[in-house]
Amino acid sequence: MRHLRRCKQLFCLLFGGVVAVAAAAIDVDRAKDVYGPCAACHGPFGAGGKQGEYPRIAGQSPKYLELQLQAFQSQGRINLPMYPYTRERELSDEDMKLVSAYLAEIALPTRPPVFKDSDDALTRLRAMEKVMIVPRVEGNVDNGQVVYQKNCAVCHGKTGHGRGMFPMLVGQYTNYLQKQIDAYLKGERPHDEEGATTGALYTLKAADIQDVLAYLTTLQEVRP
Ligand code: HEC
Ligand code: HEC
Repeated sequence: MRHLRRCKQLFCLLFGGVVAVAAAAIDVDRAKDVYGPCAACHGPFGAGGKQGEYPRIAGQSPKYLELQLQAFQSQGRINLPMYPYTRERELSDEDMKLVSAYLAEIALPTRPPVFKDSDDALTRLRAMEKVMIVPRVEGNVDNGQVVYQKNCAVCHGKTGHGRGMFPMLVGQYTNYLQKQIDAYLKGERPHDEEGATTGALYTLKAADIQDVLAYLTTLQEVRP
């Protein structure tokens, strides 16, 4: 999406290689260095782990990632495990931007790749490590769809893939999402810019939230 928009600006439809050019605009080696200590918790490709104790951060909106890193640094969003890594000495503004752009570009497929006979075991293992499928969870998916499209889609997108400051919710661990919703409801994390606790999220019944989470797990194959 972002590339496409950028493409139009650069009239790159005439120049086929522009996606590669846009991607090369970030220094991937440096980004990997910056990401190094993060991998201990978020995994080598940003897929997170321990069933959502560590959230997936790959493929997330770069703007949102940067905003969260800033929020951890200023302690507007409290995150004890990460706080030391976001201290200014560890992570400059420039590095925050870089690592966010890098993570946003990592695509995690939702189905295992088709291998060639010539692919060796290591290649297969590496490719399988990137596959991320959030298991379906119980709930009334039809109701979840109605509730989500009415109350959440305007910001998080019709397919839950987010945009700009609005995070992608699809492809994220269900228990991580639930934990964040609990934090919002308790007022521990602000759900919007003003830090207000008045949005639709705060009016939903627990059963509706469960249904929304169930619905989100059905959307993983749908790309915007
Ligand atoms: C010691 C473990 C640990 C390390 C190292 C770590 N994180 Fe995290 N990170 C977490 C945990 C735990 C959370 C979720 C906190 C919560 O539940 O609110 C998190 C959350 C995040 C989020 C928010 C995701 C979202 O959807 O809102 C981002 C972005 C993030 N980390 C990026 C990074 C980056 C970049 C680094 C390296 C500079 C890093 N983390 C290093 C443990 C870690
Ligand atoms: C008015 C816009 C808006 C609406 C409507 C909205 N959200 Fe959000 N949501 C946000 C923003 C902005 C954030 C990021 C907040 C931050 O910076 O911490 C967010 C974050 C979240 C997160 C945390 C994601 C993460 O990776 O940590 C969850 C979960 C979430 N929203 C669920 C919902 C659900 C469910 C609904 C519908 C009931 C909903 N939101 C409706 C704007 C919205």
